Amino acid sequence: MDETVRYAVGLDVGTENVRAVVASIDRAGKLSVVGYNEAKNSGMRKGILANLAGPADAIDHMLGEVERMSGYEIHSAVVSVNGSQLLTTKTEGMIAVGTIEHEINEEDLYRVEDVAVTGRVPANREILDVIPFGYSIDGQEGVRDPLGMTGARLEMRANVVSALQPNCDNLRKSLEGAKVATERLVPSVVAGSRAVLNERQKENGVAVIDLGAATTSVAIYEEGDLQYVGVIPAGSINITNDLAICLETSTDVAEEIKKRYVTGAFEDGKDIVIKMNREEHTFSREQVNEVVKARLAEIFDKVKKELRKAGYEKRLPEGAVLIGGGSKMRDLDIFAKQELEMSVRLGCPKGLGGVGSSIEKPEYSATIGLMLFAADSDSRPIKSAQKKAKGESSGFLKNLFKKFKF
Ligand SMILES: Nc1ncnc2c1ncn2[C@@H]1O[C@H](COP(=O)(O)OP(=O)(O)OP(=O)(O)O)[C@@H](O)[C@H]1O
Ligand SMILES: [Mg+2]
Repeated sequence: MDETVRYAVGLDVGTENVRAVVASIDRAGKLSVVGYNEAKNSGMRKGILANLAGPADAIDHMLGEVERMSGYEIHSAVVSVNGSQLLTTKTEGMIAVGTIEHEINEEDLYRVEDVAVTGRVPANREILDVIPFGYSIDGQEGVRDPLGMTGARLEMRANVVSALQPNCDNLRKSLEGAKVATERLVPSVVAGSRAVLNERQKENGVAVIDLGAATTSVAIYEEGDLQYVGVIPAGSINITNDLAICLETSTDVAEEIKKRYVTGAFEDGKDIVIKMNREEHTFSREQVNEVVKARLAEIFDKVKKELRKAGYEKRLPEGAVLIGGGSKMRDLDIFAKQELEMSVRLGCPKGLGGVGSSIEKPEYSATIGLMLFAADSDSRPIKSAQKKAKGESSGFLKNLFKKFKF
């Protein structure tokens, strides 16, 4: 008997790759991955849409296989948003909740959140999430969950995650072109973090670094909550392009060198010989190392600046976790550790049911995280989920009382 009560779909729109994961959820809430796929994307620049048609075509094409594999027709998904436009802003708000005996209810939380957010984020920004990281009641600080508590004055401190409105609108429009409604937009590094971090890491303090093709995104967690998101407009494709320019070779050959021969240990060694299209190419290992090292040093220097800007340099006991396609370079953690002067490990999603073991790879972290967000953001039965209108988005206000901790 098919126990599936609903499906959760995560869709990562990366600069170089689009990926989707579908999981079925049974009555007991157990997830099982039933479909996935990836395809090359086009029409994106540094995590942001440059045209609508490129990503729409890539997604439409890629989802065909996911639907065949899962037997589920995809109408909506939780989708990634990326780019240096992403911002986290710290805010605070205060409201009077009534008499001293008043029990704080959801309406009060809504109001205090509204006060904290209104006017703090520029009008051209879409609020993706509001993460309360502390309440105080009548001046008493350190309250994590004020629901049901009594008091007359409620204050909240929160982190607001936002992205430029036109970019969000265009992303949704492009997805509509692929006949997919956007349930929610989540920063790709935040989604990736959800797939690879455990509660202890988030509680103690940790950074996730998503080394993608054209962006390197950083998310910082402490006390269980997201504290900061920053996106650097450079990624692994810059290494390929540098190699192609400096070694005077094609980007195909450069990509092959990067993936097969470069390691983050940057040890000396024999010349690199590559056979491609019946041609043999020889490169000096020393030169290859020099080129890759220079670009990676620049990227990790910027990561370090992000950590400093966020106030977390040398303050993260759980160190950093690397994810994204670029993190697959062998021994990259060794290099990152030296550059960042903190412990670094490679992140990889684990423990997925169904056909999930095939996608337990760093480049699938964001997609799996998006699917996990979809799993807990949606409790609709299959029928209504499938009827869901195209383009309908469950925005921040709708989700307000279903607060998900990033
Ligand atoms: N084995 C490998 N070694 C080194 N780099 C790799 C390896 N495999 C893939 N990459 C690189 O990973 C990058 C793609 O990563 P990913 O799919 O995470 O990017 P994306 O999500 O499309 O981009 P972005 O997140 O920047 O928008 C490419 O630049 C590719 O060359
Ligand atoms: Mg990515």
